[in-house]
Amino acid sequence: MTFRTLALFAALTTPAIAHTAHAAERECAQSPGKVIEVCVFTKGGQAFYEVSRQGKPVLAPSALGLSFAGEPAARITAITAARRDASDSRWEQPWGEQRVIRDHHADLTVSLAGDTALNKRFDVTFRLFDDGLGFRYAYDAIPAGQAVAVTDEHTEFRPVGAYDAWWYEGLGQERDEYLYKQTDARRVTLAETPLTLKRTDAPKEGGGGLYLSFHEAALVDYPSMLLAGDGAGGLKAWLMPWPDGTLARKTGPFTTPWRTVLIGETAGALADSRLELNLNEPSKIADTAWIKPGKYVGVWWEMHLEKSTWGSGPKHGATTANTKHYMDFAAKYGFDGVLVEGWNQGWDGDWIANGDKFSFTKAYPDFDLKAITDYGKSKGVRLIGHNETAGAVVNYEAQLEDAMALYESVGIAQVKTGYVRHSGTILDQDGGRQWFAGQYMVRHNLKVAEVAARHHVSIDAHEPVKDTGLRRTWPNMLSREGARGQEFNAWGNPTNPPEHTVILPFTRMLAGPMDFTPGIFDVVHGKAELARRGQSTLAVQLALYVVLYSPIQMAADLPENYEARPDAFQFIRDVPTDWETSRTLQGEIGDYIVVARQPRGGQDWFLGALTDETARKLTQPLTFLAPGKRYEAQIYRDGPGADYRTNPHALETVRKVVTSQDSLDLDMAPGGGAAVRFRVLD
Ligand code: NOJ
Ligand code: CA
Repeated sequence: MTFRTLALFAALTTPAIAHTAHAAERECAQSPGKVIEVCVFTKGGQAFYEVSRQGKPVLAPSALGLSFAGEPAARITAITAARRDASDSRWEQPWGEQRVIRDHHADLTVSLAGDTALNKRFDVTFRLFDDGLGFRYAYDAIPAGQAVAVTDEHTEFRPVGAYDAWWYEGLGQERDEYLYKQTDARRVTLAETPLTLKRTDAPKEGGGGLYLSFHEAALVDYPSMLLAGDGAGGLKAWLMPWPDGTLARKTGPFTTPWRTVLIGETAGALADSRLELNLNEPSKIADTAWIKPGKYVGVWWEMHLEKSTWGSGPKHGATTANTKHYMDFAAKYGFDGVLVEGWNQGWDGDWIANGDKFSFTKAYPDFDLKAITDYGKSKGVRLIGHNETAGAVVNYEAQLEDAMALYESVGIAQVKTGYVRHSGTILDQDGGRQWFAGQYMVRHNLKVAEVAARHHVSIDAHEPVKDTGLRRTWPNMLSREGARGQEFNAWGNPTNPPEHTVILPFTRMLAGPMDFTPGIFDVVHGKAELARRGQSTLAVQLALYVVLYSPIQMAADLPENYEARPDAFQFIRDVPTDWETSRTLQGEIGDYIVVARQPRGGQDWFLGALTDETARKLTQPLTFLAPGKRYEAQIYRDGPGADYRTNPHALETVRKVVTSQDSLDLDMAPGGGAAVRFRVLD
């Protein structure tokens, strides 16, 4: 072996190379495959970073840093040290869209010097992947025990070029439950993240475009970040404040969440990135065997259709008899759980205004918790608990321990939580009005997960703080809402238009799983007006199980609507919720998507395809199938004449034998889609 090959060998096998170099005025680092480069420098008393991809600028110099109460904005004058590191490892998810995840990254940590007490020295670590980067601040020099308040975060993202953005106005009273609009990125005022951009002014070299998505990872004990537009395409971090206007309250040394940028040539590349999970800490739950993905039904849609009520009375939905009826249905068709809403006392009257009246341990008299959970056990079906807090978190936290202990004692392993209250009106223990995702609610969110974990309970949060990949650290955070879900198709005015579910995979879903609750077969549910009923074909309702990833998926419709369509129902019975691997095969934001997923530990494949309001014929090569094997493709597609406006229920099922060398034509109706199971034959 020559010295050269020896050195090369050493470089390839060394898992981590760390060294501190004499800091230069400008420090740069590249991702492992040299795709992404970041450079950091100071200029005019400010610290900046800039990002390029394959040598072309993506983010122009963008500001870095924090300001604190009690001192002026610091002048950041120099990089005093730079440290580099690299790592290539694989880790396994207990459940997920992909079982084994590769974490291949390079790190650049710079120490910066400023002219104020708290900004005298702080570090910024950039973690570079080939599909994007994350960076975070570490204020390690703050003395232990010293209370500080962050009053501004200077972090900017200044994309080079012209972009379109998919977004909705942040700070709305309905939190994250809004329809997305597509505008020139310069029109973004204040947007929730993930905020996804598509470049509009560059030639598509080699077929590739440029797609960016800005978000954060590992949001712990810090306010949630929105992005404020400057009218020229630049974006700046905007943190949800405390009632007194401060942003984050910290004590002693602290590290912020990661600010993340996904960068890809296709929209699908963003969806298939695992950067978000890689930037979270490994599981804090040692034994995760009790955390179970699965499918569930529930006493739920009937309330949204106003066939029954959450509150007590003659139409009460959460009765022992009704729950047993759903449990029978679940057992017969292989579902793991039955969600029951309205089981606990506090729903009568204006429950949103009177959230502090909710009990999380006392059932209504016509709901016999013990009899129901015993019945479930005899059938192999679990009761899924429901804790609607109406945003009265003080009341909820006071009961949290007792509630989770009770659920554990009766075998409830999963609880859906809810925070139906206008954002900005959640009351804390001091009577302060809190945003739905400021530091106060971020703390609350994690507290619920921690207490639940001690009692072997998993959480599915509705009206949640947005996902930032914390499911890696707390795998009992199974799923959450955090966007307009199916419920809007019951009562929304307007309901979700077809393009909504082809925007979500490239925006909200980049954050993590969503409890969208697919599977409404009676799309029309007696409503004449399009804007008041589901705007999709039946095939779409099947495809959503594959396209919108969640480890727990609801079959949301009424049992009788499933029994009326055994042809379509078969797909829901067959589709799993836990995957070996997942791939976005085609897609354009707001237009169409094709996703394939392979069941965990299995050989079959499942495919989901969706279009917007435009009929679309896509040809999908089946190269993801194992070569040399034959599969039976069980295809559920829009039937003749299907149209989400006039004929939503037309569905056709076709079976044919295919191999990896074949292509599948996906002929989708307006507002339509397709779902396919590829069952391996040999
Ligand atoms: C809103 C949730 O998204 C929905 O699923 C639930 O039924 C209601 N809140 C009542 O808790
Ligand atoms: Ca909701």
